Amino acid sequence: MEVKTGKVFSQHLAKELLMAVGVVAVVLGLALGIDLPEEKLADPADNTYVPRPEWYFLFLFQLLKLFPGQMELVAIVVIPLAGTVLLYGLPFVDRNPVRHPKQRPLASWAGVVILAGVLVLTAWGADLPREVARTIGLNKAAIAAGKEIFEQKQCSMCHAIRGQGQNFGPDLAGLSKRYDEAYVEGVLKNPQQVYPGTPMPAPNLPPEEMEKLTAFLMSLE
Ligand code: HEC
Repeated sequence: MEVKTGKVFSQHLAKELLMAVGVVAVVLGLALGIDLPEEKLADPADNTYVPRPEWYFLFLFQLLKLFPGQMELVAIVVIPLAGTVLLYGLPFVDRNPVRHPKQRPLASWAGVVILAGVLVLTAWGADLPREVARTIGLNKAAIAAGKEIFEQKQCSMCHAIRGQGQNFGPDLAGLSKRYDEAYVEGVLKNPQQVYPGTPMPAPNLPPEEMEKLTAFLMSLE
C-alpha cells in the first residue's frame, strides 16, 4: 500500500490542531465558567491541616504510601523509570503490525490492568481523608473533654497555662516540647513517684479520663 507522505502529514496535522484547539477551548471554558472555591488562607498555627494532592495525583500519592521508608525510592524512581523505558522501547520490541486491540491481547490487557490500578489507587487515596478526619475529630473531642477535666480537678489552682492561672506549679504551656506522653501520664498517675515530696495531689482518674486529660496537656502550645 503506497501512502503519500505529504497527505498523511497534512491530515495528521489538521487532526492534531483540531484536538489542540478543542482542549484549549475546554480548559478556557472551565477556567472562566466554573467558580471553584479557594482553600482558606494558610495558617501555620493549624496543626490539624492535612495537605493532600489534587485528585489526579492521588494514585501516585497512594502508591508512595505502599512503599514505606527506604522503599520509597521504588515508587519514586524505579517504577516510573521502568514504565518510561518500556514505553520508549516498545516500538523496537513490539513489531506486531496489527492494530486492532482485540488482536493484541497482551498490550490491551496490560493497558486495562494499569488503568484499573490507577483507578483503584485513586479511590483508595481519596478515601483516606475521612479516616484522618475521624482521628483528628476524635483527638479534638478528647482534648476538649480533657480541658473540662483540667478545670474540674482544679489543676489551675497550681498551674498556669501560658501565664493564665496560679504559678504554684510549673506553667504547663508547651509541655509536649519538654516531655513525652508517657512521662506526663506517669506524673498524673503518681506525682509522688516522679517528684518525691511534691505538693501535687494525684487526680485519681479512670483510664479514659486520664487519656483525655493527657491529650489536652500534650496539645498545649
Ligand atoms: C497543689 C498544687 C498542684 C495541683 C492541684 C496540681 N499540680 Fe501539677 N504540679 C505541681 C507542682 C508543684 C509540680 C512540680 C513538681 C514538683 O517539683 O513538685 C507539678 C507538676 C506537674 C506536671 C509536670 C510538669 C513539669 O513541667 O514538670 C504536670 C504535667 C502536672 N503537674 C499536671 C497537673 C494536672 C493535670 C493537675 C490537675 C489534675 C495538677 N497538675 C494539679 C502542683 C500541683
